[in-house]
Amino acid sequence: MATRTKSRQSDRSSSNRSSSAGSNRSSNERSAFSWGESGPIIAAALGGAALGFAANYGRKFITQAVSGISGDWDEVLATEHDLALAVFDKMLATDSSQTWKRSMLLMQLTHMLDKHAHEEEMVVYPALREADQAVEADQLNAEHGYIKTFLYELGKIGPDASNWLEKVREFRVLVAEHAKMEEGQVFPAFKRNLDEEQNAKITALVNKDGFWAA
Ligand SMILES: [Fe+2]
Ligand SMILES: [Fe+2]
Repeated sequence: MATRTKSRQSDRSSSNRSSSAGSNRSSNERSAFSWGESGPIIAAALGGAALGFAANYGRKFITQAVSGISGDWDEVLATEHDLALAVFDKMLATDSSQTWKRSMLLMQLTHMLDKHAHEEEMVVYPALREADQAVEADQLNAEHGYIKTFLYELGKIGPDASNWLEKVREFRVLVAEHAKMEEGQVFPAFKRNLDEEQNAKITALVNKDGFWAA
């Protein structure tokens, strides 16, 4: 676990992680989020609310299946951090002519971060506050606000803006630092004081929340 955390964090400063972590996780990434890129086309082909409803549940199961791979709640969240950072790297590999790809990647990232924030804000941060880590929970919660601000700004400037890549690069730094604080400090300190049953409960609640937010 310690080794995993260390190697994970050593990747955080890089803005080009796709060659390392990306290659390890590319199959997961494809299976989990391929819906995001082909979704509108498939949805249009299916037509009808009933089929759309069923497809949405299929996506939920696929997304949740990937989230469930890692086991404990903190590992699920760490995997989601890595998947989001890999999307940032794809965004950073685009040029201003690839406006459609940029828009699709931004939509995918928004969905991933939204689900992730929901799991943390509805389960993990309240549990941190309960465990006398309210200061950390509130700081992390405030950072989620700035993450949403970046999403808003990227949507506002549009995918062909001259400062799009610069904005994405800044955004990635914020998310990487945020993830590093969670994985390296706050979550381990919290987890150390959980017994097995409490830990399992947090894992179950995160998985349940992730399913509905997927
Ligand atoms: Fe967070
Ligand atoms: Fe997180």
